[in-house]
Amino acid sequence: MKAQSISAALLAGVATCAAESFRAIPTLSPSVDNGENILPTIMNSSAIDPQTVCPGYKLMHMRQTKSGVDARLYLAGKACNIYGSDIDQLQLRVQYQTRDRLSVQIYPANIPDGQESWYKVDDDQIARPLDRMPVGPTGSDWEFSYVENPFSFTIKRKSTGDIVFSTKDTKLVFENQFVEWKTSLPSNSNIYGLGDIISANFELKNTNRTIYAADIGDAPEANLYGAHPFYLDHRYVKVNGATKGYAHGVYSRNFHGQDILVREGGITWRTIGGSIDLFFFSGPTPAKVTQSYVSEIGKPAMQQYWTFGFHQCRWGYANISELDNVVKSYQRFEIPMETIWSDIDYMDQYRDFTVDENTYPQVEFKAWLDDLHKEHLHYIPIVDAAIYITNPSNSSESYPTYDRGHELDVFMKNPDGSEYIGAVWPGYTVFPDWSAPNVQKWWDEEYISWHKEVPFDGIWLDMNEVSSFCVGSCGSGKINMNPVHPPFKLPGEKGSVIYSYPEGFNLTNSTEAAAAAAASKAQDDANNAQNPPSTVTTPYYQIPAVTPNVRNINHPPYAINHAQGNHDLAVHAVSPNATHHDGTSDYDVHSLWGALEIRASFETLLKVFPGKRPFLLARSTGPGSGKYAAHWGGDNGSTFYYMRKSIQQALNFGLFGIPFFGVDTCGFGGNSDLELCSRWMQLSAFFTFYRNHNILSANSQEAYVWADVATAAKTAMSIRYSLLPYFYTLMYHAHKTGSTVLRALSWEFPDDENLINTDSQFMVGPGLMVVPALDQGVTNVTGYFPTDGNTVWYDWYTGAATFSDGKNHTVDAPLGHIPVFIRGGYVLPLQKPALTTYQARKNPFEVIVALDKSGKATGNVYIDDGESHNVKDALFVAFRATKNSVWFNGVSIGNLDKLKSYLTNVASVYVLGVETKPSAVKLSGSQNCDFEYDTQHKKLTIKLPSSFVYSKGQKEITW
Ligand code: NOJ
Repeated sequence: MKAQSISAALLAGVATCAAESFRAIPTLSPSVDNGENILPTIMNSSAIDPQTVCPGYKLMHMRQTKSGVDARLYLAGKACNIYGSDIDQLQLRVQYQTRDRLSVQIYPANIPDGQESWYKVDDDQIARPLDRMPVGPTGSDWEFSYVENPFSFTIKRKSTGDIVFSTKDTKLVFENQFVEWKTSLPSNSNIYGLGDIISANFELKNTNRTIYAADIGDAPEANLYGAHPFYLDHRYVKVNGATKGYAHGVYSRNFHGQDILVREGGITWRTIGGSIDLFFFSGPTPAKVTQSYVSEIGKPAMQQYWTFGFHQCRWGYANISELDNVVKSYQRFEIPMETIWSDIDYMDQYRDFTVDENTYPQVEFKAWLDDLHKEHLHYIPIVDAAIYITNPSNSSESYPTYDRGHELDVFMKNPDGSEYIGAVWPGYTVFPDWSAPNVQKWWDEEYISWHKEVPFDGIWLDMNEVSSFCVGSCGSGKINMNPVHPPFKLPGEKGSVIYSYPEGFNLTNSTEAAAAAAASKAQDDANNAQNPPSTVTTPYYQIPAVTPNVRNINHPPYAINHAQGNHDLAVHAVSPNATHHDGTSDYDVHSLWGALEIRASFETLLKVFPGKRPFLLARSTGPGSGKYAAHWGGDNGSTFYYMRKSIQQALNFGLFGIPFFGVDTCGFGGNSDLELCSRWMQLSAFFTFYRNHNILSANSQEAYVWADVATAAKTAMSIRYSLLPYFYTLMYHAHKTGSTVLRALSWEFPDDENLINTDSQFMVGPGLMVVPALDQGVTNVTGYFPTDGNTVWYDWYTGAATFSDGKNHTVDAPLGHIPVFIRGGYVLPLQKPALTTYQARKNPFEVIVALDKSGKATGNVYIDDGESHNVKDALFVAFRATKNSVWFNGVSIGNLDKLKSYLTNVASVYVLGVETKPSAVKLSGSQNCDFEYDTQHKKLTIKLPSSFVYSKGQKEITW
């Protein structure tokens, strides 16, 4: 498959507005983004299998250490030099770091000076789990064993006796540009994660996962924007006749381009550099695995309360009055909208930290933003990774951001020390180097001064893979041409008009669909006539043979299955030979650019907003990025397919420690339609990050564009806004413990084998299940209602108990209705909804107590000011219900008076599953409360006196 980038893939498709964003400037030839035609090694039938020719290693000199063992590995025969030069000696280090965490490290030892051709990930850049208080083999749930010659190792979890990882009967191959290790998997193993990818199935049997950060649209099965070499293995076994699920996690801390071949019997890991740095997390529940992993890479950032409101964005809000119209329309139609976003449209010629004085005049824009803030609404602009490089021959051109960065020497270099010049939206550009000594200072100052002119509330980091629309330093020697137009047509430009629609549009809108199909064909014909498709087959590039101890970083001997262009690593990205100030080549650190930009930007925002939690949304991420940023699912398409896949994406990013996640609701590429947008606005209302975003020139898709979508959105949003205290509390737990927010059913019901591949429904926290309709034209949906024996599911809308038998059931889902179920055993904190989170926080709280079969339920709510970075004042209330009572137990830190405005009264408690009408409801054993009992739905509604507020200490309500 030749996967395309957004710049090509999404541009097929009816435009209502043509993009006139670019001036009459030279357009780069599309050929600048053509790399070599590379045949990925896994597709090359004549590629040699290293296992058949390489000698493996022999273990010697093993010695005990405080935390485990150290040993040397010596090449056990003649070097095979298959995809690089074999390394003679390796260091093995095994550390029993904690009871549940084992580390196995293998890296080159004794390399002669000048030949240190491997790269070890910088612990400061990507946190490495450490053996702070090593437990040693006896204190650990892990057992490491080995075979000396050829060296192999096996990892067993003692508590379950399970072999979780074994390289037995395979050879370790360790070369300067290729490392391979193979592990076996038993047949009951189920693997999840290994992203950033969208795949056919949630569970990964028989797939190839390539990891290499790429600006590649959301091409299915392709290596996408980020690098997350972590998997969860969930195995089911029979214990005394009952099925039990055990999970463990494996993190391979290597960020080189890599192929991970997941097969029935095992996994083959192949990376084009770096070291083996494995971590095993013993679980044994999926929840425990993720918590342990995420706690090590960096627990998720706590988000500000307003970020849970609804966000509206699009590429193509051409001026301030368009932005204003969107805000006012949401208000007119009384659809909640919290934050309005700007894509690159606001910039002066797509240059970061500028505004276009013609369309977004700075003084007017600032005044508009100040007014927005008075309404307690927010604004987030995009900032691109690439920085326009000033044209020295144009004396009227001024771009101080570049000048200052150049002065401070903060940009990436060519191997000869000159600035590396790629091409992105503004034309030829340079790229910040996060290892340059002055880069943080420069980045801070750009934001701090720009924020005075454009008072934003958070930042959207885009194109940070880091994307470049040409191969190599294509602008070197050509900057006198700047600005140049990217080497492809922008969406909406002639020849790139968007004519695509969601599946089934031909059924619901046949006339329009036929017109669009005809126009699309005419456009394709015209494009083909102008540029006839080439009939010449480009021969594969012949990668030169290995030169001993010399790395070929532009075309490594082992070609990973990188999906961009013709598999050339240099296509549509800063190329492997771009050089960083710390001496590393992009080859070694390519996939970390995004993660490093995120971290630097977080530091910057702490300075822009002293004391407040930074809000960042970023496209390329790595392990630990959740500590600083939220993530969105990239350039999806306006199709039911992508809506469905958004659930898988959210679950995966939960595993990767980035629980604040959402996708471009209603779809980015292509035109959306009423049905899709209605379904999607409802589905995304249950994601942590809820944003509607659209590509330049596609039909508008704000929630008010179709009356039915507006109604559907309002219905789902009123649920979401009621649940804000629940979402916020879940986020707080994620922040404190590394737990997830959106959850796979298999994580909540780990012993139920039927859930292995379930990613068409999901949990929000432990207490809410969403069973969305994901297909075009349907009016009902079949969902699975798991049980742990004690489970009762309640319908959100009626409060009545429903299917709770661990089986599939079909429920009504007419357009405008999203089936949502509350899980018995849980207490959900709510607040009356409003049009903004600011107003919602002024409304009374409510509580749903959903009793399980034994009549019990627990839950909690966390309340703070919603914005402080270092929280000083907070209240945490735990709820505990038995058949006839619910207890509120509050504990606090700091001064609760400071939270007074957030501690509105708790107006009602809804108890679900109350079998008979109570004779009385009492507060603290004595005070009578008003109540209603709904016999049909077995729902008790308790009205609390207006003086009832969340507070420290205990309160009891009995019935
Ligand atoms: C690519 C991003 O993924 C997309 O969301 C954005 O609209 C375009 N760049 C233009 O900035």
